Amino acid sequence: MQKVDSTNSYELYDSMNELPLEWRNLMLDARKATQTAYVPYSDFHVGAAVLLENGLTVTGSNQENAAYPSGLCAERVAVFAASAHHPGVKFKAIAVAAFAGKNTSPVAVSPCGNCRQVMTEYEHLFGNDIRFIMQGEGEKIIVLKNVKSLLPFTFTAEQLSESNK
Ligand code: THU
Repeated sequence: MQKVDSTNSYELYDSMNELPLEWRNLMLDARKATQTAYVPYSDFHVGAAVLLENGLTVTGSNQENAAYPSGLCAERVAVFAASAHHPGVKFKAIAVAAFAGKNTSPVAVSPCGNCRQVMTEYEHLFGNDIRFIMQGEGEKIIVLKNVKSLLPFTFTAEQLSESNK
């Protein structure tokens, strides 16, 4: 038996103002997208923004449903829209923000397991790191170098093809 240690580092910014301009703007787009959330059940308004390699930004927000599991998180709405409207264009960065109820200050948010799996698919497909920017506690902003650091031991298409050998 061997013990394997894995470490994960990320950048922690004190506030939006400390962020490089490109990420700050992406975070602002994510915050704006929260306004289109359809959240009659949770009242938790999430927005996500995907920055494409060609400079365009695609946003999404969470869309809920009376049949609860049929709803979709903001991250997947944004990422699927980006891929559907701009197939094959690499993603440079993804930002996510959330507001609880009528609060005017954003709250900490981190993506669910399904969204992590979906986002890593595109990282794998495009072969480049997708920077991930999310709201932390208080004013803090967390920046991860890539999406796969959110999901160690990710299941990828390669494992599917391995099993066909
Ligand atoms: N939600 C997101 O859209 N993204 C996240 O990162 C966390 C959770 C949504 C799903 C649901 O509509 C609501 O927030 C409460 O879980």
